[in-house]
Amino acid sequence: MRRKIIAGNWKMNTILAEATDLAKAISSGVNPEKSTVIFFPPFPFLQNVREVIANASNFSIGAQNLSSKEGGAYTGEVSAKMLTSIDMEYVLVGHSERREYFNEGDNILFEKLNQSFENGLKPIFCCGEPLGERSSGNHVQYVGDQIRNVLFLLTPQQLNSTIIAYEPIWAIGTGQTASPEQAQEMHLLIRDVLKEKFEPEMVESISILYGGSVNAGNALSIFGQKDVDGGLVGGASLKVNDFLDIIKAMESIG
Ligand code: 13P
Repeated sequence: MRRKIIAGNWKMNTILAEATDLAKAISSGVNPEKSTVIFFPPFPFLQNVREVIANASNFSIGAQNLSSKEGGAYTGEVSAKMLTSIDMEYVLVGHSERREYFNEGDNILFEKLNQSFENGLKPIFCCGEPLGERSSGNHVQYVGDQIRNVLFLLTPQQLNSTIIAYEPIWAIGTGQTASPEQAQEMHLLIRDVLKEKFEPEMVESISILYGGSVNAGNALSIFGQKDVDGGLVGGASLKVNDFLDIIKAMESIG
């Protein structure tokens, strides 16, 4: 059985009081039993949010980013070691906003994954095609290559502790979500590509999340797809009632 995961990527939103209020309202509003809920707050609030969820079962926390370097003279960077020293469990790697606005390519992403594994962080590796690749019908090749270029360099053990998120860029923050069929097609593709290199049985145990305009209205139909194991939610993760409904949708599935 694959672990079901609902992750909230808060991006560069909230100030301290809003972050702790949000975490409090959500963690006291639902008791997830079948799924793990992970908050990804901004760096300065990680400790505070961690304290809020300390006694909430099946809630966890991670960082939105980490440095590809181990440590040293890299002003403004945050290392994997720093994150594990404050009990972070997860980290996002390869989000399309990092790839696009901060020029993070395959080599950097591989280094970030290595930093995560060396320090005991579980990465959520994000992939997904821009609109142009989807329109020209090249999305299968594009996402397949994102997986091959980075995840094929991992050891089986490393891949086994990786979560994947498929986030088509055209669906992020646009309100134009992928259809359940489009999501299922791409999640199956990702699994098939991984099977070119890794043991099929192990690949079947990897959770693949969908991200891109997930909301309370569409969550159930997307999460109901066979190869969709949860969601990586942006905008709707900042709204208490919407995010609670998304968690409940996941919980209502078998
Ligand atoms: P939205 O849910 O706002 O489309 O964002 C998705 C996302 O980028 C999560 O990482």
